[in-house]
Amino acid sequence: MFDIKITGTGSYLPDKILTNSDLEKMVDTSDEWITTRTGIKERHIASEKEATSDLTTKAAKRALDMAGISAKELDLIMVATITPDTLFPSTACWVQKKLGIKTNIPAFDLSAACSGYLYGLILSSTMIKTGVADKILLCGSETLTKITNWNDRSTCVLFGDGAGCSVIEKSKGESSLLSYVWNADGKLGNLLIQEAGGSRIPATKETVEKNLHTVSMQGNEVYKHAVTKMKQSALEALKKADLKGKDVDIYVPHQANIRIIKATIKRAGIPMAKTVVTIDKTGNMSAATIPVSIDWAVRNGRLKRGNILLSTAFGGGFTWGATVLRW
Ligand code: ACO
Repeated sequence: MFDIKITGTGSYLPDKILTNSDLEKMVDTSDEWITTRTGIKERHIASEKEATSDLTTKAAKRALDMAGISAKELDLIMVATITPDTLFPSTACWVQKKLGIKTNIPAFDLSAACSGYLYGLILSSTMIKTGVADKILLCGSETLTKITNWNDRSTCVLFGDGAGCSVIEKSKGESSLLSYVWNADGKLGNLLIQEAGGSRIPATKETVEKNLHTVSMQGNEVYKHAVTKMKQSALEALKKADLKGKDVDIYVPHQANIRIIKATIKRAGIPMAKTVVTIDKTGNMSAATIPVSIDWAVRNGRLKRGNILLSTAFGGGFTWGATVLRW
């Protein structure tokens, strides 16, 4: 459908690791609860000095190295994130600066929460197809632990920090985006939200005291929608590509909860052996989970040229989507 090729992948997770047993000392929780309810064992935490663009720049350099191109050859930078360094300038502009790119190329952030990387992949493919850009750096990057309420056990055990980047170029036909699905439903936005800090509720002393700058989530409700939409979008994208679950070589889902992943593969007919699970080591890194998981799968030899790669995501907005790529 769209002849694009991911020619390089890279990821970076901060050094500091917070384990479930560390969390047991911080809030009323247990390794057993976190593991059985979510599949998470540990997550990486950015230091006070690390912002989203710092993680992204390190991941981007690794992706550029693999693609065998220099940063100055890029002609567009897109960063999918809900935890930008600053509300403006965009994280993408900070990354452009940190990569030492002196040419004037477009750089912007994309806000679609956990679906951000897939939204960016779909946008990248249309831009490459229409000649808007030839070499795109697409990143999914988050420092979610900076907007985590560490007193709320129902959310603080879930999130982690990290960045994953992809260099996307024109393909000569061997690789392509075979199909995609992308959707949103703004009616349900309040179920998963960072309430303050925008124009609706600007930052004040009270908003900080009331913890309105941290993630607030009605987990149960989000869970139900995530299972339904991840399954629906997987089936829809496969149908559009004229494929079935059995044709998928490798499935890289958004990593929010192992139970959501298991429910999705059961209904979409994809075996666990073909499913990439990284949540145990990373927690939910929102837009970063898919590009980081893809990078790990490439580097450990699990994802190979020619493979049919299905990805699905669901997140705040609500937003959701799926892509089928011939890698
Ligand atoms: N440790 C121990 N007990 C806990 C913890 C914890 N960390 N957190 C909650 N509990 C308790 C609750 O208080 C509740 O106790 P009660 O029965 O006495 O009232 C009990 O555990 C069950 O709580 P639930 O919220 O019903 O637990 P659930 O099984 O739904 O799991 C979870 C919670 C893991 C958050 C799940 O709902 C989930 O994964 N939701 C979806 C998350 C998601 O997909 N997010 C989208 C992407 S994120 C983004 O866009 C940024």
